[in-house]
Amino acid sequence: MTRHLVLGGCGFIGRHLALALARRGDPVVVADIMPPPPELGEAGIEYRAVEPGEPAWEPLIDGCEVIHHYAWTTVPATANDDPLGDLDANLRNTVRLLETLRREGGRRLLFSSSGGTVYGRLTQTPVPETHAFAPITAYGASKAAAEIYMGFYHGCHGLDCRVARISNPFGAGQDPRRKQGAASAFLFQTLAGEEITIWGDGSVVRDYIHIADLVEGLLAVADAPVPTAAAAAMPVYNIGSGVGVSLNGIVDVLRSRLHLDPTVTYLPGRPFDVPVSVLDISRAAVELNWRPRLSFADGCARMLADLRRGQTSFSTLLD
Ligand SMILES: NC(=O)c1ccc[n+]([C@@H]2O[C@H](COP(=O)([O-])OP(=O)(O)OC[C@H]3O[C@@H](n4cnc5c(N)ncnc54)[C@H](O)[C@@H]3O)[C@@H](O)[C@H]2O)c1
Repeated sequence: MTRHLVLGGCGFIGRHLALALARRGDPVVVADIMPPPPELGEAGIEYRAVEPGEPAWEPLIDGCEVIHHYAWTTVPATANDDPLGDLDANLRNTVRLLETLRREGGRRLLFSSSGGTVYGRLTQTPVPETHAFAPITAYGASKAAAEIYMGFYHGCHGLDCRVARISNPFGAGQDPRRKQGAASAFLFQTLAGEEITIWGDGSVVRDYIHIADLVEGLLAVADAPVPTAAAAAMPVYNIGSGVGVSLNGIVDVLRSRLHLDPTVTYLPGRPFDVPVSVLDISRAAVELNWRPRLSFADGCARMLADLRRGQTSFSTLLD
């Protein structure tokens, strides 16, 4: 049976993915610089500690055939503040991982790229995978560069590399204090009795995907057969909902569907927030037969229900 390694598997997406792999009966190892949350051990998932800095990847990948790469230290705002730190911790470690995989051979690598940042200001929306790279953040530049390196290892060394360009995931288990994920953050702030802060007039539109749908999409990318044509391009898929929701739209769902009472403060807009970012997910639908199942409002209702069942640290706010 295929053995999977989830790098960054103690984080939001990696943890959900590792649990989904374990649920379907696949052997899973999680490697992270953070200690493991108890739910991983309870699900029978093995844990390997990663040294911060420049980890030796060889012992970590040992015995694993599919490597899921979710290890990343920055979000757009923090990478913009420290582009060199982002480069060292993330891009450099990704290229070190690729070198290790080239030397060791016989592995598959799935990389979590960013559908919201590699394209920059969109000339087409929903945006297809063929849109040019034009990132306007350091985070987007690192993700695009990592993809370009993966294309090199795929094309020149025959490494089985796949890319998922993820939109904006949300759901129980996401850290609402990180500067990423408006849907989770707005719900957290509302439950905590805090004001929601919106930069701009709230018309900024994003593609939000519930974590359950995202994980199914990521598994579809990882499970897809190796392309048969020798010269086949590296598989790259947008994994999002394909539907745009504005920041004001999130607030509306909190009111109308979740029956909450958020208060909102508006601040001046930020230059790095592109007005609209919605992914064209038709390639994944056609080639992988994957489609998200939950609407945005249903996903929000599921997030609240999961929190009520105590699925994350801020569920205590519901007591
Ligand atoms: N959450 C989003 O909105 C979003 C959107 C698009 C892409 N992504 C990408 O998906 C991936 C996972 O995102 P997330 O939201 O789960 O982030 P997260 O911060 O919750 O998880 C990242 C995990 O990686 C770990 N990590 C960092 N450096 C490591 C290293 N060198 N070795 C091992 N582990 C390391 C962290 O400790 C953390 O547990 C990241 O690459 C992120 O850039 C996230």
